[in-house]
Amino acid sequence: MLYIGVDLGTSAVKLLLMDGEGKIQKIVSKEYPIYFPNPGWSEQKPEDWFTQTMEGIKELLAQADKNQVAGISFGGQMHGLVILDKEDQVIRPALLWNDGRTYEECDYLNNVVGKENLSKYTANIAFTGFTAPKILWVKNKEPENFAKIAKIMLPKDYIAYKLTGVHCTDVSDASGMLLLDVKNRRWSKEMCDICGITVEMLPKLYESYECVGTLTAEIAGELGLPENVKVAAGAGDNAAAAVGTGTVGEGMCNISLGTSGTIFISSKTFGVDKYNALHAFAHADGNYHLMGCMLSAASCNKWWMEDIIGTDQYAAEQKGIEKLGENHVYFLPYLMGERSPHNNPNARGTFIGMTMDTSRADMTQAVLEGVAFALRDSLEVAKSLGIRLERTKICGGGAKSPLWKKMIANILNLKVDVIESEEGPALGGAMLAAVACGEYENVEAAAEKIVKIIDTVEPEPELVEKYEARYQQFKEIYPACKPLFEIIK
Ligand code: XUL
Repeated sequence: MLYIGVDLGTSAVKLLLMDGEGKIQKIVSKEYPIYFPNPGWSEQKPEDWFTQTMEGIKELLAQADKNQVAGISFGGQMHGLVILDKEDQVIRPALLWNDGRTYEECDYLNNVVGKENLSKYTANIAFTGFTAPKILWVKNKEPENFAKIAKIMLPKDYIAYKLTGVHCTDVSDASGMLLLDVKNRRWSKEMCDICGITVEMLPKLYESYECVGTLTAEIAGELGLPENVKVAAGAGDNAAAAVGTGTVGEGMCNISLGTSGTIFISSKTFGVDKYNALHAFAHADGNYHLMGCMLSAASCNKWWMEDIIGTDQYAAEQKGIEKLGENHVYFLPYLMGERSPHNNPNARGTFIGMTMDTSRADMTQAVLEGVAFALRDSLEVAKSLGIRLERTKICGGGAKSPLWKKMIANILNLKVDVIESEEGPALGGAMLAAVACGEYENVEAAAEKIVKIIDTVEPEPELVEKYEARYQQFKEIYPACKPLFEIIK
């Protein structure tokens, strides 16, 4: 049988066709615009996601035997607020995960409701990108839109809704709403009251690998697929990526270098970061995870390469970088503010340490290193909780760069296992569909069979030592700049 994985990303939707053995048959990608209507705001149109997903599925299946397609599932950009009225029309463009406009609502949630209460209700505190502060923002700033809300959902859930007519979500993605009692995997009545919404407005909760329904007759007709194709709930893109890289069960780690950068640590038991710097979320394998999320990762490199120095020759640009661990230039990668661990929407991108002999290569190196140092900041929080890691998987666009993988291995002092396919969320989505259709007994069994490690980048002791000294310098820069970020905002 065949399974479709849909990775509803920030710059594009990626669709992947996988057979029952886990072999990838085809990958298609379709872009859509992102809007920044004000500094720090970030929006997309759910209608664009759906149109491009449908176009993508058609292209994906152009040469395939459509009768073999058994299931579809998702990895979706997390936290985005999609609101529909009682006629099922989208009320306003979705506010995305990297939108920083809700700082007043976060201030209210963290300081008036209080972090302790939030943590008790949801295992997490408020970050500007999370969904509950966005609901409060619509309530406070667009009351006419708030009054129209009949259904609330996350980005990938809008696609599932259009495909099946079922208003559903999964526990991993729902964890990032600040509306879920993560430990017990059910909606928090307290948080609904705080946001002025009812539980009925929220989607029905499923485990990621559960079937939520089948295609509507209209969608099946348009795609030329049988109506009994199953749709599984899917997962937030990081949990889906973890499935796609085999980061399931106890104590495994995955680093994703996409538009955002995340460090994801799987666990069989529920645990909260006592500093609330890392997110404590449900995992798509039925367990839990901790995650640090930086808002700009591979996007920093894209910005530097394409918008600033004006080239798309990524490999050629990185060729000139040779002196690892010896760069005097540092870069703070906070181009959209920062989530983990600083939780500061006013943080900004910063270069520091240039001299007259600083070269273009040094600046490019600083951008790549800055992202790795910032991931290390989240790893340090995990270490302070007693978590010991020896290795990590890696995925996302940035994982294509051998140099960046080497930097990550040495700056984080972790063995970096490279997977046969870097298509984390899309592959994870297809794997969840396969589990929902009974092809595999559970997510761990699917990962065991499908995910293959093809290489390991080992940390080199001399380089680890050099980078350790650099990291000690890097970590002084944000606290020193923090008061300035308040002035220049
Ligand atoms: C995770 C997060 C991002 C988005 C990117 O908390 O906000 O990784 O999911 O799509």
